[in-house]
Amino acid sequence: MQIIGYRSASVKSKWTKTKWLLKSAEIGKYVPPTSLFNRSNLGDMLSRYRVVFFKPTGGTGGFHIFRITKSKNGYEVRHNTARKHFTGEDALYEYLKNQAKDRSYLLQKGIQLAAADGRPFDIRVMVQKSNDNVWKNTAVFTKIGKPGKVATNYHQGGKLGFFRQTLSKAGFGQTAIEKKEAELKKLGESVGRLFDGHGSGFRELGLDVALDRSGKAWILEVNTRPQFYPLKRMGNQSMYRTIMSYAKQYGRTK
Ligand SMILES: Nc1ncnc2c1ncn2[C@@H]1O[C@H](COP(=O)(O)OP(=O)(O)O)[C@@H](O)[C@H]1O
Ligand SMILES: [Mg+2]
Repeated sequence: MQIIGYRSASVKSKWTKTKWLLKSAEIGKYVPPTSLFNRSNLGDMLSRYRVVFFKPTGGTGGFHIFRITKSKNGYEVRHNTARKHFTGEDALYEYLKNQAKDRSYLLQKGIQLAAADGRPFDIRVMVQKSNDNVWKNTAVFTKIGKPGKVATNYHQGGKLGFFRQTLSKAGFGQTAIEKKEAELKKLGESVGRLFDGHGSGFRELGLDVALDRSGKAWILEVNTRPQFYPLKRMGNQSMYRTIMSYAKQYGRTK
C-alpha cells in the first residue's frame, strides 16, 4: 500500500482488491467470476462462459484489455478495434501469454453491457471519506463507450454521461432508475467500509460497475486513484465541485 501525492492509500492489484470484495457475502454477489490467468484457469473460464475478459492485474485507463468470445469454430479475440481468430485453446493461450509477457493478468466473465442509443456503457460510483470518517457517495455517472472499443474508459474515447439520462435512454423507467441509483450508492459506501478493514488510509474509491442486459449490477474493478478532470468537461460541473470539496479534506487539489 502506498500514500503518495495526497493522503489517500492506493492499491494497484485488481486481484488483491477482488479478493477483498469476495470476503463479504453481500458485496461478493456483485463480483463477476474472476481468476488469475494461467492455462488451466483459461480452460475453466472458457468452458463456463461465452465471453471472457483478459486484463492486466495492474492495468489502468482501459489499456491492454482483450475480449475473448467463443465462436462456432474457435475463439475471437478483440483488442481495441483489432480482431484475431484462433481455432484451438492452445493457440489462444500462446497468444495471450505472449501479450502478457511477464505481467500478471486476470480472466473475468464478460458482462454484456447495457446500451444507450446502441452504445454500451458502464457506471462510475465515487465514494469519499470525510474528516469525520464516514464514507459518502459523492457522484454517480456513466461512461459511454466509443463504438468499436471493448473498454468504455475516457482514455479509450468514452464519453461521460449523466446517470439518469443514460439509463433512461437504455430503457429504464423512472422508478427503476431511482432504485438502481440508491442501490449503487449504498454499494459504494459498503465497499468503502470494507476497504477500511484492509488499511486505514483510504479516502476515495471509484467503482467501475457494469449493468448487464437484465439490469443487474456487477463490480468490474475498484479504483483507488480515480481521475476527476474528465468531469470538468461535463455540461454541469456540480459533481466535480462536490468531489473536489471532499478531496480538499485529504489534500487533493485536482
Ligand atoms: N468483465 C467485463 N465485462 C465487460 N466489460 C468489461 C469487463 N472488464 C472490463 N470491461 C470493460 O473494460 C473497461 C476497463 O476495464 P477495467 O477493469 O475497469 O480496467 P481499467 O483499470 O483499465 O479501467 C471497463 O470499464 C469495461 O468497459
Ligand atoms: Mg476501469
